[in-house]
Amino acid sequence: MVFLAQTLLIKLKMAKKVQSAFFCQSCGTQSTKWLGKCPSCNEWNTYVEEVINKQEKGKSWSGKSGKTNTASLISAIDFTDEKRISTPDNELNRVLGGGIVPGSLILLGGDPGIGKSTLLLQLALQMKAKKVLYVSGEESEKQIKMRAERINENSEHCFILCETSTQNIFQQVEQLQPNILIVDSIQTLHTSLIDSTPGSVSQIRVCTGELLKFAKETATAVFLIGHITKDGSLAGPKILEHMVDTVLQFEGDRNHVYRILRTIKNRFGSASELGVYQMGQGGLRQVSTPSEILISERDEATSGVAIAATIEGVRPLLIEIQSLVSSAVYGTPQRSATGYDGKRLNMLLAVLEKKCGFRLGAKDVFLNITGGIKIDDTATDLAVICSVLSSDQNIPLDTDICFAAEIGLSGELRAVTRIEERILEAEKLGYKQIIISKHCKISKKDFNITIKPCVKVEEVFSLLF
Ligand code: TYD
Ligand code: MG
Repeated sequence: MVFLAQTLLIKLKMAKKVQSAFFCQSCGTQSTKWLGKCPSCNEWNTYVEEVINKQEKGKSWSGKSGKTNTASLISAIDFTDEKRISTPDNELNRVLGGGIVPGSLILLGGDPGIGKSTLLLQLALQMKAKKVLYVSGEESEKQIKMRAERINENSEHCFILCETSTQNIFQQVEQLQPNILIVDSIQTLHTSLIDSTPGSVSQIRVCTGELLKFAKETATAVFLIGHITKDGSLAGPKILEHMVDTVLQFEGDRNHVYRILRTIKNRFGSASELGVYQMGQGGLRQVSTPSEILISERDEATSGVAIAATIEGVRPLLIEIQSLVSSAVYGTPQRSATGYDGKRLNMLLAVLEKKCGFRLGAKDVFLNITGGIKIDDTATDLAVICSVLSSDQNIPLDTDICFAAEIGLSGELRAVTRIEERILEAEKLGYKQIIISKHCKISKKDFNITIKPCVKVEEVFSLLF
């Protein structure tokens, strides 16, 4: 019976000239047979059979293709400064490194319902001077219009197309010639060059390839919305991230109003930028002074709270670090950190234990960075230590003090980069004192904030407690 079915399948394949191959769902490597372990990315059990058909059935992007490129001297290449398209959204401009680069392919990933479609539709409607084509494979025209009504923006240059076939999209694009193309989402697209289902690794790869070629040949900026998987990485093969110029991640708590737009990769700017938005009734609103929202309003000092002057990308940010230290109920004490590296927390606790004599070995320690943001700036070390101690001793820190120093393994305060910007931000937000390392070099002298340089952690403690 099985044999019969197999011969039938083989006959069918021969009759229709269907070709299939196995693809790693993790990295996109192709193989003619099924493999248990991918030789390229070493993931197990990721190969899935997909139908491919190399017979060309429709045309893909057919701009100037056919022309062959020749090698040219770098000094002879005519360089007209890449004119970036500045958007009305300053947060997006900064995250992209100063505006949209024409001809770039930008991938925007994020959890479902976080606001990816809203962000890009809002951009499409706000770009009054440029022609924008918004292609949606997820929503109908009416639904998009409803969203536009909600955002309360209108534009004479924004076109909507509900389509999932790349061939049809390119036909429309050739007629309209937009400056910016937005595709919501790459997982819904399919090309007739291959036969596998939309959302499969080979479809995503081929569709992105076509869009990439289109973007580079016509200097049109292309935004792609991408779904993310359960573990938070972008769905589809890893090469998707390699192919595009910029990868942005939209994150935040869905029940929380604040959203953070973060660069993961950027060929045209810094990869550690951060944009902050607030989701409201009328869509997303930019938050230009995020320090104010990241610090909760407190009338009186509470124990376990310390303010760190950190830097995300080019922007200095003041963030609130909260900790709770309590006696461990169970044998093994728990250490839990939200928005902060758990290993670094363990290291800082060990420094406290060994160098400063605080017995935290039998205590539970919980650490939380408010506002749902994640930090990996080592300049927050001192604030983390002070917040843990403040909670342990149950002594609140003054509300007008903040910290910016890295802690070494012997308990010394180490210098951090761009200290002046951190001090200025603290001064701007009305802090009266900032504790930094004595090794920091500050050229400017007239700050409106008291700078307290320290050498050792012990020195900071005797200053505070
Ligand atoms: P959406 O852009 O559809 O998310 P994604 O494309 O990432 O899946 O975001 C939808 C959410 O945003 C939904 O929960 C409703 C909310 N929202 C507002 O709160 N205000 C608004 O003005 C709009 C348009 C959406
Ligand atoms: Mg959407």
